[in-house]
Order: sequence, then C-alpha cells, then structure tokens
Amino acid sequence: MILRICFIWLALLFVSSTTLAQVEDFDSIKLYTLKNANGMTVKVTNFGAIITSIVVPDRAGKMADVALGYNRVEDYINAVDKPYFGAIVGRYGNRIAKGEFTLDGKQYSLARNNGENHLHGGVIGFDKVVWDARYDESKNTIQLSYLAKDKEEGYPGNLEIKVTYTLTDQDSIIVDYQATTDKSTPVNLTQHTYFNLKGEGQGTILDHQLMLNANRYTPVDAGLIPTGEIPSVANTPFDFTTAKAIGRDINLDHEQLKFGLGFDHNWVLDKGGDAGALTLAAQVHEPTTGRVLEIQTTEPGIQFYCGNFLDGRLKGKSGNAYVHRGGFCLETQHYPDSPNQPDFPTTILKPGAEYKTQTIFKFSTR
Ligand code: BGC
Repeated sequence: MILRICFIWLALLFVSSTTLAQVEDFDSIKLYTLKNANGMTVKVTNFGAIITSIVVPDRAGKMADVALGYNRVEDYINAVDKPYFGAIVGRYGNRIAKGEFTLDGKQYSLARNNGENHLHGGVIGFDKVVWDARYDESKNTIQLSYLAKDKEEGYPGNLEIKVTYTLTDQDSIIVDYQATTDKSTPVNLTQHTYFNLKGEGQGTILDHQLMLNANRYTPVDAGLIPTGEIPSVANTPFDFTTAKAIGRDINLDHEQLKFGLGFDHNWVLDKGGDAGALTLAAQVHEPTTGRVLEIQTTEPGIQFYCGNFLDGRLKGKSGNAYVHRGGFCLETQHYPDSPNQPDFPTTILKPGAEYKTQTIFKFSTR
C-alpha cells in the first residue's frame, strides 16, 4: 500500500474568481494516490472530493485509466457545461424542481442552475469546495470532510459530511458516506465519475454491455424532473435487466429518450425487500478489453447518464476529446426531486439521525 501525497496543483493564477468565490486557499488543494497490491491506482483530490483517475488492467494485464478527468484543477473549475467529472455531488445530487421545496411548513428556494431547476447542489456545490483530507495508511483510505453551513446554497442546517474512499486488494473502491445535521434538511450524496472501460478518451461507450438490477424506473418531463410514476421497464428501451449494449436501443423512437437526449434517468433498484441492504445495482462489461465494473449500493436508486451532453469540446488527461457519449455515469442515489415527491423514499435528514450509505465499485476482467 503506497501513498504518494501532495502534488500541489499549479497554474492556479488562472482560476476564475467569479466561479469560485469560496476557494481562497488554493495551496490546500492536494492530489492523493491510493495503490493496491495488484498495481491498481486511484487518484483523489480534496477539491470537490474528485476521483481524477482510476487505473486498472484489461484481460491481458494492460493498464488504462478508465475515469474521465483533467490534469489541472482549473480545468475542473472552468469546464464548459459543468460535467461534474469524478466529483461528490450534493447537498442534493440530481434535480429539485424549480429549486423549491417545503419542509416543516417552510418554503426554501435554491439556485436554478439547470434551466428552471436545481441540479447537483447549486452554483457552488460539494464538487467545487475544498474538503479536509486525511490519509490512513493501515486501511488504504482517504477520508474527506466538509462542513456545509446553514443556508449554504439555500439549504437549511449545518451539515457535517464525511466521505471515505477505500481501495482494497480485491480491486474495489468502497465509498462510505456519512452526515449529520443540526436542522432538518434534504441530503442526497453521490459519486459522479464518468467511466469508459476502454480507457478515457477512447471513443464512445455505446458498445459497453450494461446490466441494471432494476425492473422499474422514474420517467421524467422535458426538464428531467420525475413525473412521479414508477412504471415497469418491460418492453421499453429502459429494460437493462439482461445485459445489452448501451447503444442498442438508444435511438429508438421513445419520448423518454428524447427528453434525456438518450439515457439520463433514475432506475429503481430491486432490493429484495430490504431497503437499506447492500445489493447489486449494475454490471458493465467492455467486450474488447474484457474490463468489468460491478456496482453495489445501499441506495434505492441509480442514475444512468451516458454522457449525452459531451460533445467533443472537452479534452481530458490524455489530450483526447471527450466525444458525445464518451463516458457513462452510474450515480447511486435517492430518486430525483424527492423533496417534492411524497411517494418517493424520503431524503430528509433530521437532527440526531445519521446519514449513512455505501457504494462499492469493483473492477475485474473476463
Ligand atoms: C445528470 C445529467 C447532467 C450531468 C452533468 C448527470 O447526473 O443526470 O442530466 O447533464 O449530470 O451535469
């Protein structure tokens, strides 16, 4: 287990003060590397708790970085169209309709940073703040902490958050989320890595075979806000219960695919009756390299977003353009807009209670 700490990222002079008013101490931004016995590496920065790189072997042992991202922190800050590469998003990952919700009789207004809706915690969400980081060599972990203040981005309550990344010798990245609050507040934290199992910048992900352990999903309106229905995926392009290529049905004539410009939806995971259990959520297999990613989670839902808004303008670590559908996200989460949807599982964290979820990203080959 090796850790190479502290490459202080340079060129911070170019950071835009308008986008990042809160980041004052740029010297505190660090990059950490976790390595396991098999040579797998995961890089994490305390800026946005971002996973910047995941290097894993293919079936012939050839290593590649399968996570989209940048080499320089200012690229994360200034990226056009805000892709949220690799970040922890919150306080509420995904969308809240019109940036509004009512809690205990009081109405709250959040930033409308995605058309008329609120997305991924607002203008300066958890992806754009500097977290405290602590490395524990004996566990091969990096623990990131952040205190989101009462009224920050419009949310109620001081929220103390801890996210712990563990790299195991079984090639798993375990992500543990924990939070407490001093006022009732919605919380929905997720990890926003874009994967391309051929390697970042190596074309589209349309040939990746995806299985989702979900018989139902939450359809959306044109602004990608759930309608509240939870229909079966049977006989629709949203049926990934048996593995199929991501691109197989993506261009079928279906209203939901028009709204999402492809897949950009929340699937309701089959939990087998135990809502909080750690269960299989997704499996992805890339046939040419043999790489497999398996995701397990305690969360009830997963947003499968297949990089519909990537358009080749962003260039990543390798210098290659991130083309349309050049990466996919599998964001374990509660359903979007839950604060406004009484029939969805609650996302309200109360004082005295603990928010605790776990998601595991396991890599292998076949
Ligand atoms: C959302 C997409 C959004 C992307 C980048 C995903 O989680 O579902 O609609 O474009 O994040 O912001």
